[in-house]
Amino acid sequence: MSELSIRNLQVSVKLPDGELKPILAGVDLTVRAGETHAIMGPNGSGKSTLAYSIAGHPRYEVTGGSVTLDGQDVLAMTVDERARAGLFLAMQYPVEVPGVSVANFLRTAKTAIDGQAPKLRTWAGELRGAMEKLQMDPAFAQRNVNEGFSGGEKKRHEIMQLELLKPKIAVLDETDSGLDIDALRIVSEGVNRVRENGDTGLLLITHYTRILRYIKPEFVHVFVGGRIVEEGGPELAEQLEAQGYERYLAGAGPASVA
Ligand SMILES: Nc1ncnc2c1ncn2[C@@H]1O[C@H](COP(=O)(O)OP(=O)(O)OP(=O)(O)O)[C@@H](O)[C@H]1O
Ligand SMILES: [Mg+2]
Repeated sequence: MSELSIRNLQVSVKLPDGELKPILAGVDLTVRAGETHAIMGPNGSGKSTLAYSIAGHPRYEVTGGSVTLDGQDVLAMTVDERARAGLFLAMQYPVEVPGVSVANFLRTAKTAIDGQAPKLRTWAGELRGAMEKLQMDPAFAQRNVNEGFSGGEKKRHEIMQLELLKPKIAVLDETDSGLDIDALRIVSEGVNRVRENGDTGLLLITHYTRILRYIKPEFVHVFVGGRIVEEGGPELAEQLEAQGYERYLAGAGPASVA
């Protein structure tokens, strides 16, 4: 069983003038295959920074702590090595990849991760099936990745990648934002399918308990000022919805709160 282990992770963002601005102030978190964790926290608390740091975004510099996947040093890996090791990030703002079709992108990613090209016979069916389940028009396969996609279409495409690539650990950064009610359900069902396989550990970053009605996390972490300030079960999410983050904000760490 896979395990992502984050210990005392400290991360700064590199500003254009070369200065380092501290964001993550010592994050401790363990996510195992088959577990679902939710991270909730106010704007600017560093949730996306945590996601990018796990994925290896070059703008973020790790200044302390460790991240390991099944004992292997993730921080020593390049971005594509992390993906091949089984880490997956659905970004809060997915980027456009002009000139690369969805079909080509997914096949290339699948080939890179599995170490061999998927069999043509079965792959086309898998791709079609994944699109059908997410109620995506098959015409999307021929469109360039995220180019002109609506916000909700981008999020469905992220979940399609999740279903096809079958990562060990998936970080979903606000996959629920910008979804209409039907899309939220469809996307949540996709996440739950992945969850039911039991092979993937999920880390959901979200502001709202809305998505948590469809996807029930076993663990909820409150993220404020660049670190986890409280942990609990699903009842903690309900409590946050009712009370907000105010009681955590006094004494927040280095990340400023919008
Ligand atoms: N390139 C950058 N330059 C300056 N500050 C940055 C940069 N990237 C991130 N930050 C700052 O780091 C802090 C944390 O940002 P981050 O995006 O991780 O927050 P978040 O918790 O994901 O917020 P949200 O809920 O709004 O998505 C913010 O104060 C943000 O302004
Ligand atoms: Mg964010």
